[in-house]
Amino acid sequence: MYVFTTVDALKAHLHARRQEGKLWGLVPTMGALHEGHLSLVRRSNAENDFTVATLYVNPTQFNNPDDLARYPRTFDADRAMLESAGCQVLFAPTDAEMYPAPTTLRFSFGDLETVMEGQFRPGHFNGVATVVAKLFHHAEPAVAYFGQKDLQQFAVIRRLVQDLAFPLRLVRCPIVREPDGLAMSSRNRRLEPEARKVAAVLSYALREAAEALQKTRNPEAARGLIGQIFYPIEGVFLEYFEVVDAASLQPVTTPEDHDEVALCIAAYVGEVRLIDNLIVTRGGVQ
Ligand code: PAJ
Repeated sequence: MYVFTTVDALKAHLHARRQEGKLWGLVPTMGALHEGHLSLVRRSNAENDFTVATLYVNPTQFNNPDDLARYPRTFDADRAMLESAGCQVLFAPTDAEMYPAPTTLRFSFGDLETVMEGQFRPGHFNGVATVVAKLFHHAEPAVAYFGQKDLQQFAVIRRLVQDLAFPLRLVRCPIVREPDGLAMSSRNRRLEPEARKVAAVLSYALREAAEALQKTRNPEAARGLIGQIFYPIEGVFLEYFEVVDAASLQPVTTPEDHDEVALCIAAYVGEVRLIDNLIVTRGGVQ
């Protein structure tokens, strides 16, 4: 696996590969990798000549400085995992390389960012869009892979790609889960053992709510069930539960009128903030 820390070195390598007629997939990450990230790399490998993964803890998307300081950094393990998943190129830049000058540019994603994560993490998607746009320019992929785990991020990046005409295709990959249903996340490793056990409640509650939604077609029934499940559990604080259209992210009242309805949840388990979602389609649940 080639490892580059500068944009110039990455570009020189990729331009040579372009001359050979190769096309590659891009998998942006912030490291502390797990099977969820590796599933994106494998998908990209299967669909492209090779994969470029990026590893960069992007400061501009953290609205909470503590969260940034405590974000796990496990470079050596990440590098080994990427190599074993068949990744051919790793771009791991410094802050100075990614932000040679402070950014002042502000995006507006309209309705996409007034809901859910946008409400609770002001500035977050601006930072995500800034760094992802830079990574698209630096890596020039044919296809870029993102996880359904961060559904709102996917919607924002889709709009970024459409509005700024990035010449690439986006792929949304399914959520990889632990055996008890907990969605894999770099933040899971910050959960204390007790909290780790309790954390499975997010995915359990989503499955129950999805079933209620399929039966009743009533988002309020799903919401009621979520309240009942969370209320008695100590050490867990439900931040939001929303039933939205998976593309527009706007609240849904008649699920049967939408191709994909997403049930989205955010909760603190102990000190750690977790998010999860399920997508209900006419064919089933993803
Ligand atoms: P990070 O949280 O490291 O996630 C990198 C990618 O892995 C994202 O597309 C995310 O949705 C996906 N992912 C995370 N957990 C997953 C799981 N359990 N199953 C499947 N995919 C999963 O998302 C970011 O980094 C950053 O915001 C980034 C896009 C890199 C910009 O800084």
